[in-house]
Amino acid sequence: MTLFDTAAAPDRFADQEEARRFAAPPDGRLTADMTRAFAEDGFLVLEDCVSHADCDALVARAEALVEDFDPKDVASIFSTRGQVHGRDQYFQDSGDKIRFFFEEEAFDGEGKLRQAKGLSINKIGHAQHDLDPVFFDFSHRPALGAVAAGLGLKDPLLLQSMYIFKQPRIGGEVGWHQDSTFLRTDPLSVIGFWFALEDATLENGCLWALPGAHLGPLRQSWRRDGAALVMDQLDDTPWPEELAVPLEVRKGSMVLLHGKLPHGSLPNRSPHSRHAYTLHVIDGACEYPADNWLQRVAALPLRGFNAARIQEPV
Ligand code: FE2
Repeated sequence: MTLFDTAAAPDRFADQEEARRFAAPPDGRLTADMTRAFAEDGFLVLEDCVSHADCDALVARAEALVEDFDPKDVASIFSTRGQVHGRDQYFQDSGDKIRFFFEEEAFDGEGKLRQAKGLSINKIGHAQHDLDPVFFDFSHRPALGAVAAGLGLKDPLLLQSMYIFKQPRIGGEVGWHQDSTFLRTDPLSVIGFWFALEDATLENGCLWALPGAHLGPLRQSWRRDGAALVMDQLDDTPWPEELAVPLEVRKGSMVLLHGKLPHGSLPNRSPHSRHAYTLHVIDGACEYPADNWLQRVAALPLRGFNAARIQEPV
């Protein structure tokens, strides 16, 4: 599947670059130009949002978590003989846990990893922002609360976190999608906070977006249906791919993504990884339907950016 015209894109990006990039305000207070850009484009790039030291600390922590993780625990689910149902269950139960998700075909038929564990992981999700102290400190920054407020969230709550490895050479493509497909409130409110922990470039699979297309319809809705996860087609409007722009950003930048903004990324065929971290934030003033895939146990309620660390293990 070819989603993007990479040959034509860089010029378009250069034309629009000035309008779409801002130095991150240290206190998180967005200017009128920033909120206008987000309203018009559906995304906002804030450069130098987190320090390189903070990025490095998160990368080191993710690598340590992977090091401590024994893939034997999940080999039966992810091996090519594994059942789709088992994989679904592992995913469905991860909303209030720290779980490790492997690249497609990471395991052989015998349940053995084909390459080193550290190069086989696709992502870590989905509650490390509450459960792990290093991830907690990275995620719960009052300045981010100010950003969320500036984008209109009355009661910002951190719903989900993902550490994305986008491994060298094998990091997979992520097709066009809207995050509100996967995380729904009524009315829609989810905003993605995407942090570049390393430079994200055309070569290593940076984000791409369709500016302004967040004003179009939500195409799909993913939900629980009993024990299964199902995708409902809500609208057949094609993606306006002619609008596509790459969001190449330097390490430490944050990209804010409106929940209806179509975005994706190409495979990473380069020798360099493209580590990124995302938070998905919703407005607690909105209803959170019970058929969202992500459900939490009562002992781990959603919290805002100013919350104190959890002292008791959940
Ligand atoms: Fe996304």
